[in-house]
Amino acid sequence: MLEKLNGIEKAALEALHAVSDEVTLEAWRVTHLGRSSPLMQVFDGLGALPKEERPAIGKRANEVKKLLETALGERSGTLRLAALKRSLEQEQLDISLPGRPFPLGRLHPTTQTLREMFHVFGDMGFQVYRSREIETDKYNFQLLNFAPDHPARDMQDTFFIKSSGDRGDNPLLLRTHTSPGQIHAMREFSVADPDDPPPVRIILPGMCSRYEEVNARKDIQFNQLEVLAVGRGITFGDLKGTIADFARRMFGQNVRTRFRASYFPFTEPSAEVDVECFLCGGQGCQVCKGSGWLEIMGCGMVHPVVLRNGGYDPEKYSGFAAGIGPERVTMLRYYIEDIRYFWANDLRFLEQF
Ligand code: DAH
Repeated sequence: MLEKLNGIEKAALEALHAVSDEVTLEAWRVTHLGRSSPLMQVFDGLGALPKEERPAIGKRANEVKKLLETALGERSGTLRLAALKRSLEQEQLDISLPGRPFPLGRLHPTTQTLREMFHVFGDMGFQVYRSREIETDKYNFQLLNFAPDHPARDMQDTFFIKSSGDRGDNPLLLRTHTSPGQIHAMREFSVADPDDPPPVRIILPGMCSRYEEVNARKDIQFNQLEVLAVGRGITFGDLKGTIADFARRMFGQNVRTRFRASYFPFTEPSAEVDVECFLCGGQGCQVCKGSGWLEIMGCGMVHPVVLRNGGYDPEKYSGFAAGIGPERVTMLRYYIEDIRYFWANDLRFLEQF
């Protein structure tokens, strides 16, 4: 029996010598160490041997098994290393190939502009206040001092939401501007202490919609940034100072601003703000159409009716408000000629920012 084991060992090692790849190695394992290999049959037959022979045969059989297992492990390692070497030699590595581009996400140009504005106003103590995009006629118009047949409603053609059913004179709509947030904010601030409501200093960003013919200058959806400050003793001087400071921080330290009288139902007096064209330095260019000035926002002192609707007594409180178009500002800064690019989702446009 011991001789048989010697024979098994010798045959197996010889066969292993001839093995040159992993497939034949596996076949070798099955033949020489598998369930029905001669070696395993020796183990199986141990019980039938005379008692005194068993320990020596068992010991030797275990030795052979260990030896073959070790030999298998070593062979497997050598084969794998050889295969790796071969593949390295065969594969050509072209180190001049350009790397695979790693796509990086980025913020929409309007979002970038808005965030810059948040920084500028944030430095001046304004907080961001988020207001809803679906509004009622009451908040979008009536509480902002638009009378039912006010011609200014025509300036803001509206998407009404029909599925809300008949709500009389207060239909649901997509907000046409961020100004209704003024009322929401003032009401929220003033309910806490109706007799002595706290001062308000907020900016209200967000999407607005208007039922308009789309062209290079107008789209049916756009952002606005509303500015609102309410408190005791706030004057037009505060408005001018805040806006001029905003313009300098946003467009350049030496940029001048000018205010032109205008009209909005929710402010009195109202003004439109021009900044000195930051593209030509006020010399006159294509973008400012030779005037040297760019119109960037509407603003004014909050109308007493609006203050009252927000819960602030106009006898004691005053405030200023402004509305800025972030898309327009972005267009001016980057010479973007068509507002429709903003929502066209064309990567060739978006990847430039
Ligand atoms: N809501 C106005 C609009 O969409 C913009 C505006 C003008 C907002 C003057 C204001 C303001 O707060 O004071 O045309």
